[in-house]
Amino acid sequence: MSETDSETQNQPKEETASTPIVSPVPSMEAIPAGKKSSTNFYDYVFNLEEQLRVMQNQRLAMEEKAQQMDAELKRLREELNRFKVPPLMVGAVQDILGNGRAIVRNSNGVEFLVTNETMVPLETPDVGKRVAMSQKNLAILEVLPDIKDTRARAMELVEKPTESFDMVGGLGNEIQLLRESVILPMTHPQKFEKLGIQSPSGVLLHGAPGTGKTLLAKAIANETDATFIGLVGSELIHKYIGEGARLVRDVFALAREKKNAIIFIDELDSIGTFRTDDTSGGDREVQRTLIQLLAEIDGFKDRKNIKIIAATNRIDVIDPALLRPGRFDRIVEVPLPDEKSRKMILGIHAKKMHLHKDVDFTALAKRTEGFSGADLKSLCTEAGMHALRSDVDKIGHTHFESALQKILVKREQSAQEEVNAKDKMYS
Ligand SMILES: Nc1ncnc2c1ncn2[C@@H]1O[C@H](COP(=O)(O)OP(=O)(O)OP(=O)(O)O)[C@@H](O)[C@H]1O
Ligand SMILES: [Mg+2]
Repeated sequence: MSETDSETQNQPKEETASTPIVSPVPSMEAIPAGKKSSTNFYDYVFNLEEQLRVMQNQRLAMEEKAQQMDAELKRLREELNRFKVPPLMVGAVQDILGNGRAIVRNSNGVEFLVTNETMVPLETPDVGKRVAMSQKNLAILEVLPDIKDTRARAMELVEKPTESFDMVGGLGNEIQLLRESVILPMTHPQKFEKLGIQSPSGVLLHGAPGTGKTLLAKAIANETDATFIGLVGSELIHKYIGEGARLVRDVFALAREKKNAIIFIDELDSIGTFRTDDTSGGDREVQRTLIQLLAEIDGFKDRKNIKIIAATNRIDVIDPALLRPGRFDRIVEVPLPDEKSRKMILGIHAKKMHLHKDVDFTALAKRTEGFSGADLKSLCTEAGMHALRSDVDKIGHTHFESALQKILVKREQSAQEEVNAKDKMYS
């Protein structure tokens, strides 16, 4: 009896409070005095024992149910916690200061000093890497993997360019300069050693658009049997923070793997303009890329098999740090072609065209003052299109004439539009 009592008392409150489990057994006192007999007593005990068995079974079932509900509760709590976790911020490691401290920059370009002591230990190669940071205190929680294929996205890699100096019209003096300062140090480094002079690490080509700067760089790579690795300055700065500098590093690392390499940086002005005190994020990002570039060039001085050629249309805005000795200290102007060169360029681009013998390049060269190599190339293409429309099998002088007329009208129009836009701006 007493055992039963203690067992029912130990039941958790909720269980006993829930729905009545079995029909209640009347207590001994409730049985009228006259009816109390030993048979009644045995029946009473039997009933109680029966009731106890049923209750024990029910308790087991409920315990099992409670376990299931506990598991469900745990699952829901975890899910809720997952929803409560705020998104992490992505930044880039700028510098590692030791003692678990690092400078990171968020995507707005703002720099923070964080203590990452208890989180991931950072090492020097992590500089420039992307990291995930807590929004609350910017603690670095994870170093993120590199963005895949950054090299392929921002670089042009040609193992052996097909362009050669035969394909360049005019620019004789410029080619001569490049032969001395880029080609000779690569093909005959001993000549420089013998004289005890250092060859320039880099050459800067500047001039109007379409004058053949890229063409020259590719022709040099061809002549020196070098891999051409092309980079565009503006592409570098559109990338994610820290990525521009990393790309520069990648490009130079790639060049080191090659026997000979020409690193060509087009639109140098977009990363190499004067460094200002402006500390807005975008500008500092550009500066970071530039600083990385300067460091790479400086580390390259003794490598005779790798040369850096850069190109720009805006020599006037180039940071003087880039023009210091040992960097781009050979500056070669690539001018617009003169009449004689224009004739040569027309000849080069019309070489594979079926021309009528009346085509007069001398006359065309006279009338194309101010045209760049690229303009002359498009004149040839346009003349071809005119011939195609008149359904003839040879391209005649008239086709060149009508093509020229069309281009001149277009030039006139765009010049006029420019004047109008300027007037509007200043009015
Ligand atoms: N001197 C030249 N001789 C022959 N072709 C030329 C010459 N200059 C330019 N071209 C032609 O014009 C096209 C454009 O030239 P290129 O890309 O080298 O110009 P760029 O100076 O690099 O121009 P940008 O400053 O716009 O980058 C080339 O396809 C090339 O064939
Ligand atoms: Mg170019």
